[in-house]
Amino acid sequence: MANATDHLWMHFTRMASYSAGEVPTIVRGEGAYVWDSQGRRYLDGLAGLFVVNAGHGRTELAEAAAKQAGELAYFPLWSYAHPKAIELAEKVASLAPGDLNRVFFTTGGSEAVEAAWKLARAYFKRTGQPNKYKVVSRYIAYHGTSMGALSITGLPGIKSDFEPLVPGGIKVPNTNFYRAPEHGDDPKAFGRWAAEEIGRAIEREGPDTVAAVFLEPVQNSGGCFPPPPGYFERVREICDAYDVLLVSDEVICSWGRLGEYFGATRYGYQPDIITTAKGITSGYAPLGAMIASERLMEPFLTETGMFAHGVTFGGHPVSCAVALANLEVFAREDLIGHVRANEGAFRSTLEKLHDLPIVGDVRGDGYFYGIELVKDKATRETFDEAESERLLRGFLSTALFQAGLYCRADDRGDPVVQLAPPLIAEQQQFDEIEQILRGVLTEAWSRL
Ligand SMILES: Cc1ncc(COP(=O)(O)O)c(C=O)c1O
Repeated sequence: MANATDHLWMHFTRMASYSAGEVPTIVRGEGAYVWDSQGRRYLDGLAGLFVVNAGHGRTELAEAAAKQAGELAYFPLWSYAHPKAIELAEKVASLAPGDLNRVFFTTGGSEAVEAAWKLARAYFKRTGQPNKYKVVSRYIAYHGTSMGALSITGLPGIKSDFEPLVPGGIKVPNTNFYRAPEHGDDPKAFGRWAAEEIGRAIEREGPDTVAAVFLEPVQNSGGCFPPPPGYFERVREICDAYDVLLVSDEVICSWGRLGEYFGATRYGYQPDIITTAKGITSGYAPLGAMIASERLMEPFLTETGMFAHGVTFGGHPVSCAVALANLEVFAREDLIGHVRANEGAFRSTLEKLHDLPIVGDVRGDGYFYGIELVKDKATRETFDEAESERLLRGFLSTALFQAGLYCRADDRGDPVVQLAPPLIAEQQQFDEIEQILRGVLTEAWSRL
């Protein structure tokens, strides 16, 4: 639409790049597809932004929202409750692993991460270890944009404008096995090394100063780094040894993305806190949550105790009603089972792209994949800054979109194409993704 850039300030967007061209404007969605204002159809290869897990165009979710808004549009969770928040908290607690039974609603992921760091700090203050306030997280990991969450984020490029940030954000290596600095031929030894790096960081900082470790089950930023075998098992042991909380940031990795309700369940570890958002409502309304273990709530259950934190729209009735309806769809259609049944086919379809000279690595799990692009397959040499700019920003994103695939070409780490389609996707969509990528990546290679 012509006036799109007059007033609308888009997020993480080089606004100047639209001064000459039109902003792609999406007007409608159905299943795994969306349509733009010109009537062109695109395969939604990213579920919006890792959000629309149940797929687009579900009138039953729209109706759940309308019904709730008609009945009770809004009431806060500040000393009062409403039925859908009570019901959803119970549902989430029943699905979350172990004793993660206490659900604190937010409106999105950054707020969930922010709440988790605040809870970790307050918990230790109230249990006699007031100096435990720092957090450990991984290089290139994205954990949100509010000042606390941004401190936990490991992407210097999106932090420098806003420094100084909240003190106490400690960074450790991620689990990029393709570019493993050590043990590049042995995933288990690499996993052990990466986990021990967390222990070494805690030792360096002083265990009595570290409150929590924030990790995604599969790290998104950098292009889908799954955990090597044994990684989370060892991280759990390290956290226990130093009395540090393990926070599983599942803003992307929950609600079926990895073929389980929660990523921690997929990889068999027990976090102290899960942060979530996005797919909990499949995007039909905004919602996030921090899900904490019983022990973390205990210090706040004294007669005058409270967790002094909240947001007006956290656990909004409309969002909670939508989340409940969304989870009914999950159960009725067995979306979790669908991902488990089809994830192998998704992987093997994407792996066909290995025959292209530009494809260095295909990695991920469930319906969550990154394809790393390289200049030289044998040496794994990556692109320099100028090539990256030309290839990713100048060509790939637009070319993929014009060819009918919405996905993400990202160079916050090494250049990757990221894929996370709605969980209803099946072979037809996998083939479409592969075909479009094949054509556009072949063209990209010829332009280098
Ligand atoms: C792992 C992770 N944590 C936190 C966030 C922040 O979520 P939001 O954008 O809803 O604030 C994101 C967003 O993509 C994320 O991927």
